[in-house]
Amino acid sequence: MSGIRPTGYLHLGNYFGAIKNYVKMQEDYDCFFMVADLHSLTTHPDTKELKANVHRVLAENIACGLDPDKVALYCQSHVYETSELYLYLNMLAYTGELEKTVTFKDKVRQSPENVNAGLLTYPVLMAADILLHKAKYVPVGKDQEQHLEFARTYANRFNHRYGEVFPEPYAFNFNQQLVKVPSLDGAGKMSKSENQMAALFLADEDEVIRKKVMKAKTDQGPTAMDSPKPDYIENVFGLMKLVSGDDVITKFESDYNNCTIRYGDMKKQLAEDMVNFISPIRQKINAILNDEKYLHEVMEKGAAKATVSAKTTILEVREAMGFNY
Ligand code: TRP
Repeated sequence: MSGIRPTGYLHLGNYFGAIKNYVKMQEDYDCFFMVADLHSLTTHPDTKELKANVHRVLAENIACGLDPDKVALYCQSHVYETSELYLYLNMLAYTGELEKTVTFKDKVRQSPENVNAGLLTYPVLMAADILLHKAKYVPVGKDQEQHLEFARTYANRFNHRYGEVFPEPYAFNFNQQLVKVPSLDGAGKMSKSENQMAALFLADEDEVIRKKVMKAKTDQGPTAMDSPKPDYIENVFGLMKLVSGDDVITKFESDYNNCTIRYGDMKKQLAEDMVNFISPIRQKINAILNDEKYLHEVMEKGAAKATVSAKTTILEVREAMGFNY
């Protein structure tokens, strides 16, 4: 089980770091993937753009290979049992612990004028999402580890107080370490908030992709044979490894090692390979976005599947808690 924030516009880092993992997981596991629309209210109380954002995130994930027939792909707000479990778990959550959450402290720093109670209990809602399906494996990045720890804590507290209902959920990924996609400006990993020009979005038009890739940071090239690569050059090679063929990579590696590399050529090649990779995905996204009827069917089907699992758990929860009169 995992949740996807409907903040729209996925980039290459999201694709290789998260979605590819989901797509692989759907073949081997019973999966629930949820658009976290309720969570978005903690930071975005204005819901004017919510619908467009939910549609986009669904379209992007489907275009990347998530199959609504294989997984339950649904919206958090469509599964009402989430809110009920959230309420129960809130009674097992101590405010003192929640106040120490790193993401909470960050949000307080960023928006001191909007420290609402929902923001504080963000991890409780996330625990409800997970425990509602008794999920054991949660594909998430490092930044969500602390939230997952809360989910385990609440599962254990619940089991201890009311009887064994929930398994402990753990972070999951296939390749031991998640793929980190470097940013185009040579600094850190690709992220959507930092520098728009340094991230490649799945929605980017071909010309935008080319422009961004050509702007990637390089230098005059190495002056000694077999030199170590500076970080930003390593990054360009790293991006190439994601989308280019082995022969292409081998050629530029050897050009680098014997000091004949021309970064302009390398970036032109990378730009074309990037376009060939992203363009079909973008076209799929747009086709799905234009088919609202299909999107509604996806959400309905997903909600129906998730509700079956949610209802089963919530009945067990009510029974265990003594709501059986
Ligand atoms: N908090 C997650 C994020 O910011 C999104 C999320 C919501 C989630 N509910 C979840 C992730 C349940 C895993 C499981 O990305």
